[in-house]
Amino acid sequence: MTNPPTIGPAALPALAELLRQAPPSRLFVLADANTARDCYPLLRAQLPAHELLVIEAGEVYKTLTTCEIVWSWLTGNQADRHALLVCLGGGVVTDLGGFCAATYKRGLRCVGVPTTLLAQVDAAIGGKTGVDFQGFKNHIGVFQEPEAVFMEPTFLATLPAGELRSGYAEVIKHALIADAEAFAALHGLAVAAVPDWTPIIRHSVAIKEAIVAQDPHESGPRKLLNFGHTVGHALESYLLAQPGRAVRHGEAVAAGLVCESWLSAQRGLLSAEELAQVRAVVELSFEKLQFNASELDEIAAYALHDKKNRGHVIKCTLLRGLGHGIFDQPVTLAEIKDSLRAYAA
Ligand code: GLY
Repeated sequence: MTNPPTIGPAALPALAELLRQAPPSRLFVLADANTARDCYPLLRAQLPAHELLVIEAGEVYKTLTTCEIVWSWLTGNQADRHALLVCLGGGVVTDLGGFCAATYKRGLRCVGVPTTLLAQVDAAIGGKTGVDFQGFKNHIGVFQEPEAVFMEPTFLATLPAGELRSGYAEVIKHALIADAEAFAALHGLAVAAVPDWTPIIRHSVAIKEAIVAQDPHESGPRKLLNFGHTVGHALESYLLAQPGRAVRHGEAVAAGLVCESWLSAQRGLLSAEELAQVRAVVELSFEKLQFNASELDEIAAYALHDKKNRGHVIKCTLLRGLGHGIFDQPVTLAEIKDSLRAYAA
């Protein structure tokens, strides 16, 4: 990213200023049905003439079919490489829009305007773009930083509580892997009671940016950001495949944070007291996910598909004390099942 993210009430005016200082040949806005209704009116007031495309909202539309719709729209409107695409939405819009921009004529200017907590603290930062493919999440994609990212926290007021919680799991994760003081500040802080998200977003984004700066293409330290996601993704994928049991990404990650903290404690890397603190912070905002013992084999098997694995060895990020992640730690299927048992107990 050529510019650091702008976070707060100055964000949308800063986007307007960027467009004045470096005017694109044409301006395009990609939104989904929710952000077109809830967020676009505020954005539109800051923008010069542009074209708007509204795609369907939801992970099921994060596909190459939707990309074709976006590429056709850009082509039909004669977008050249100096055009700029504004991606207004949650992680689906910023990931898919970023991918379309990176690949259209081998690269169009692109900025992100993430509208969910999850996209603001995670998805829109770090240049991962892409779409799901044949049931695998983010299976097709490229690393491509947007030109800039603009975060307007008032957009969060339009989110359902579950969606805010989903992003909060990533806030907890960032603190656990890199900043013990930030984690201590989350004690007693329930999602529903946060008066102002701006400082939390700023701090969480700073943690992620510092990690990505060291390792943009995830060959080393960026894997720290996978903490909670080995077990979390396994739970998310398993429950998604069970009719009526799908959970939000962050709800599964929250469970994953507890399980992977438990694995850290099992190896003597985290004390019982520290594990209890992780549980307390998570349990204040998240209900326990429900599954039973007969499902553990199938849930754990999903961990074999994690992108960070090497061959058939499951590689997990664990904690060596609160605020200090360690990556590439091999774990077995049996250990994953034990962690899920401990979580459910
Ligand atoms: N969401 C993890 C990463 O960006 O690497």
